[in-house]
Amino acid sequence: MGEAGGLQINRRDLVKAGMFAGAAAALPLRRMASAELVYPNRMAESKLPLPFSRGFRRPSVLSPVSSDGICDKYAIRLEAFQTEIIPGYQTLLFGYNGEVPGPTIRVPKGRETKIRFTNNLPARHPYLNYVPTSSTHLHGSPSLPQYDGYASDTTNPGYTKDYFYPNGETGRTLWYHDHGHHHTAENVYMGLAGQYHLIDPIDEALPLPKGDYDVPLVLTDAMFQANGNLLYGYSDDSGHWGDVNLVNGVAWPVMKVARRKYRFRILNGSMARSYNIEMDTGDNFSVVGTDAGLMPAPQRVRRLKIGNGERYEVVVDFARFAPGTKIVLRNSSPKNNVNFSNTSKVMMFEVTADAFDPSNNAVPSVLRPDNPAMTTSVADSVATRVLKLYRTGGQWTINGHTWDYVAKSGHNFVEWTPREHDTEIWEVWNDSGGWFHPVHIHLVDFKILSRNGNAPYAYERGPKDTVYVGENERVRLLMRFEGCGKYMIHCHNLRHEDHDMMTQYEVVSDHPMDSPLAAPALPTSAAGPL
Ligand code: C2O
Ligand code: CU
Ligand code: CU
Repeated sequence: MGEAGGLQINRRDLVKAGMFAGAAAALPLRRMASAELVYPNRMAESKLPLPFSRGFRRPSVLSPVSSDGICDKYAIRLEAFQTEIIPGYQTLLFGYNGEVPGPTIRVPKGRETKIRFTNNLPARHPYLNYVPTSSTHLHGSPSLPQYDGYASDTTNPGYTKDYFYPNGETGRTLWYHDHGHHHTAENVYMGLAGQYHLIDPIDEALPLPKGDYDVPLVLTDAMFQANGNLLYGYSDDSGHWGDVNLVNGVAWPVMKVARRKYRFRILNGSMARSYNIEMDTGDNFSVVGTDAGLMPAPQRVRRLKIGNGERYEVVVDFARFAPGTKIVLRNSSPKNNVNFSNTSKVMMFEVTADAFDPSNNAVPSVLRPDNPAMTTSVADSVATRVLKLYRTGGQWTINGHTWDYVAKSGHNFVEWTPREHDTEIWEVWNDSGGWFHPVHIHLVDFKILSRNGNAPYAYERGPKDTVYVGENERVRLLMRFEGCGKYMIHCHNLRHEDHDMMTQYEVVSDHPMDSPLAAPALPTSAAGPL
């Protein structure tokens, strides 16, 4: 790492960049100047696409290779390919089946899936020089430990691993992404992420927008080298920031919309950037879903803060706008992000006079009040535990622990051992003033009980698996453990996760538990028929 374009950035530069970015928004030129200093090999801003000059793209939907009605089988190759993001340049990416973001997988609740992930990536990253081992995590799924994308359960180039997902959880927007130890950030930055929709008949019975009007939005940011490849060169663990905002892999796209409601499944797939999403018209929109599915009731908000790994489903109504109206989805950045000239813009909607299907064009006042994560009772909690997020010894840690520490223990070290079916309260403390950490707990769905002793934000009053723990914030979470074995806990800022803000816990039970290392990858030639 750190070799791209000979770029070497020390921590002081990063802090400096962070300070400039945090300065008053009235100083854009000064910020630009600092950015030029920090990113010497960066592609000139004049060569980047103009915001709102590219068409919106919807990720493809992947068809199963076969299905017996009980289990759908999919085959996905991890492979390198080139594509044009910056006009006139080719950018090397890593994609699932050569697509970035990866194809959307749509599965009816209760139908099992078996997905064969074949690592056809080059033996070494062509310019970052690391070996692109992979581990694939389906984020939002209570998978068995050996199919959960355990960071140390890596699949080398030339190897294949089959993953099994039960899909018995409530309907939700999941995402699959790389989770290999120490290289998750590079692998995800290169493109290894896609959405996975679990379709629940209870949700389907609601008149929310469907089909063409149900749209994935994968938000990422990127920075480019002068030769068109992605710039990634930090020798620092603070984060990695792009000057180009991409939606479904396209820079600041324009989406044509009809005069009706749309459901957007927004995923923050960026490495470090968090967004404050809002419409430049100042209109409210309805948040209907959080990470782990539909909320008990929709929440009307003007703005939504989304950290790495979080998903929010929102319904936007374009009915009141005249055809031709252009609406910008903006990012009024949360603090401690590094911003550039156009990172305040995400995408544009252009309202058309086109005919549309008027069905499923409502936001019911009651969505999923029965969601198990939301009906769990505080009175059932049998323990309260605290996760402290801090930096020590040049590393990000959780309770002072890192994944290297876990690995050195032979993967035996665990923070805690809650019992299967128990309910507990977990608090997450970020007592630093200078950083935010979106924290993800594998296996569970949780309810946010409080944020700094107050009620959670309106838009986070739904089932969650990742929580934004802002500067000097403490959040209180309620969760019930269904399933057992060892599961990761980590910051979803991918540089933090890789270096090395990740630990694990173990849900214990009377019956034997599977090891997360129980199903190693096989050489692709030995993998047999799917
Ligand atoms: Cu989305 Cu452990 O990750
Ligand atoms: Cu996860
Ligand atoms: Cu973090």
